[in-house]
Amino acid sequence: MKQTLIIFIILISFCTSFAQKKKGAAPAQPKDMNTFVNQLMGQMTLEEKIGQLNLVSVGFDVTGPIVSKNVEEKIQKGLVGGVFNTFTPVAVRKLQQMAVEKTRLKIPLLFGYDVIHGHRTIFPIPLGLSASWDLQAIERSARIAGDEASADGLNWVYSPMVDISRDPRWGRIAESAGEDPFYGARVAEAMVRGYQGNDLTLANTVMACVKHFALYGAAQAGRDYHTVDMSERTMRQEYLVPYKAAIDAGSGSVMSSFNDINGIPAAANQWLLTDVLRKQWGFTGLVATDYTALNELVPHGIAADEKEAAELALKAGNDMDMVGEVFLNNLPQLVKEGKVTESQINDACKRVLEAKFKLGLFDDPYRYVDNQRASQTLMKKEYRDAARDIARRSMVLLKNTNNALPLKKTGSIALVGPLAKSQRDMIGNWSGAGDWKKAVSVEQGIRNAVGNSVKINYAKGANITDDEVLVKRLNAHGGDLDIDTRSSEQMIQEAVDVAKGSDVVVAVVGESQGMTGEAASRAELNIPGKQLDLLKALKQTGKPLVIVLMSGRPLAISWEDENADAILETWFAGTEAGNAIADVLFGAYNPSGKITATFPREVGQVPIYYSMKNTGRPYGGEMLDKYKSRYLDVPNDPLYPFGFGLSYTTFEYSEPKLNSSEISTSDKLTVTCTVTNKGSVDGEEVVQLYVRDISGSVTRPVKELKGFQKILLKAGESRDVTFTLTNSDLSFYRKDMSFGSEPGKFTVFVGGNSRDVKHADFNLK
Ligand code: BGC
Repeated sequence: MKQTLIIFIILISFCTSFAQKKKGAAPAQPKDMNTFVNQLMGQMTLEEKIGQLNLVSVGFDVTGPIVSKNVEEKIQKGLVGGVFNTFTPVAVRKLQQMAVEKTRLKIPLLFGYDVIHGHRTIFPIPLGLSASWDLQAIERSARIAGDEASADGLNWVYSPMVDISRDPRWGRIAESAGEDPFYGARVAEAMVRGYQGNDLTLANTVMACVKHFALYGAAQAGRDYHTVDMSERTMRQEYLVPYKAAIDAGSGSVMSSFNDINGIPAAANQWLLTDVLRKQWGFTGLVATDYTALNELVPHGIAADEKEAAELALKAGNDMDMVGEVFLNNLPQLVKEGKVTESQINDACKRVLEAKFKLGLFDDPYRYVDNQRASQTLMKKEYRDAARDIARRSMVLLKNTNNALPLKKTGSIALVGPLAKSQRDMIGNWSGAGDWKKAVSVEQGIRNAVGNSVKINYAKGANITDDEVLVKRLNAHGGDLDIDTRSSEQMIQEAVDVAKGSDVVVAVVGESQGMTGEAASRAELNIPGKQLDLLKALKQTGKPLVIVLMSGRPLAISWEDENADAILETWFAGTEAGNAIADVLFGAYNPSGKITATFPREVGQVPIYYSMKNTGRPYGGEMLDKYKSRYLDVPNDPLYPFGFGLSYTTFEYSEPKLNSSEISTSDKLTVTCTVTNKGSVDGEEVVQLYVRDISGSVTRPVKELKGFQKILLKAGESRDVTFTLTNSDLSFYRKDMSFGSEPGKFTVFVGGNSRDVKHADFNLK
């Protein structure tokens, strides 16, 4: 009996392991990594080692002026370590075959791609995803993206982008999780977990690449690629926090950034890439440059020519050179001249080979190229359903008066605006291999939700922009904008007529996706073109005005806030955008998102963020006082504060209760608050906890997020929400740059956004 049981167990485990292998579980690696890589490197020529440092682009997506040339020939000569912008099992197999069948040492290639918010199934842009405050949903989006990317031949994704940004003029704020280090760090960890899972050698996981290291989001004046000048304290206390979190979560790679940091561009910055990243943080993975960032060291003015750029960049700590071939063309000569040692090249080469080993590529270079898996995985129904659910979680209700929302499924709707029928804009910028023709427009989503029960009267009303040159440029880079040649008066009149004949106006307005993302900085933060004129004319009709807003950044929408009945910020919500928007508009889903970047009233307030310092002359509303830190023409406070978002219900907060009013550094402080759903529908609330250190050896922000919980409360339900604070939550970089807390008074705040909070005080001994 016992024997039969043992045979049975052996049989089961054999079957399971076989099944796992088929599904893509890790087969045994050839040897232990160190031995394997050292042995391989022992056989490599200097030229082959330098070849491993060369990362080339083959495909259509280029983000710079230079395009990789003669790639196939170089692969066969062993002069390429990785390729990006190539996907699909067929295309990847072709290049991988060249590397493993035509080269002397048969070293497989890495295949990377900008999978930013989904690969084929597209999720909301990262700024939108972050507004869900739902780490499980965010991780799931990255897991699905990783599964799809790996089924499509890829093993490396250039994500997460974790740059803190407090400047909505910067187009790439769309790719970020907003302004806050604590929250940004949690999102960074969730994304890395989602991409890499627990085991990088599985065929359905991909290596993450945390970017852009570092501080890229602090570009001066919000202009892309611009200079960053920042104190080391602000770096360590705030901007570096999410990168560190992503690295601690195990990100296999890092991308160095384009920007200058206090006089040394990141790609040449040894302090950053070696001292901080490797020595202090213990990062052992691969560092790749950004697109032609090494060539750009010359115009930066840090290198006289590309030869010097190669020397600086290798010594700084970059391993792979993206597109520019500065390493390939210059390192052999630099070694000859003794300016770079072979051992420095060995270090970089080793890290590239280790990444390949960790991905299991030496065991099976074709593990990511399986046509059958691709056809079963890409855009499967389960993934589209997830995209719809995640998209609706990302939307933020910025205003809702007169019960404008949710809409009824009766009567008629004037559906107006240049984005109402758009499919291209739905999947947003940096939409990977997403096919916008498969995206659901708002019009389609509404029709799917209401069938024939609501009459929909459509008018475009305005172009997104009437700037023909801008439209040309956007369309040359993946846009699908057309300019209606009717006059704006005619278009507006048509929309007004449609509005007059309908019960309610739903105006779908905002930016086009191409006005956001890389190289898409804006000096104005309005809704572009004649769209505001359109809204003003619609307002005149006296019909309820619901704005469905799309944008890749916080916009300055004071008029809209004053005049619309409801505003729903939907970002660019992905493949299922239209369905998800309809879910929220008609109340199938009660909105629960909260903004993660402050919305200013005016562009002149930028940079504006909740965790500012107090100044010595804080303005407290004394209108006649002159010598206060304030503007003459606009209030100091934002239009919508960080963490803000409404629901179809309302939540009430009790005063926070502390387990003690005095703690020591080894104690834990618990903060409990009762949250009650006061409305008649169920709803989710993001309960946020902030801390203020009243005085210290250096000045501290007026508030810092230190915890949050997203909870679902049934109508009428109350729940105690408890947070635990430890000494590390109260710690900071002190006057001498040591990290720790200081005794004194603290205030803790709890609330549904960073402005509307209740507080309690405590003392740290
Ligand atoms: C961007 C990166 C991106 C790279 C490769 C660059 O222009 O800054 O975020 O990963 O291109 O496409």
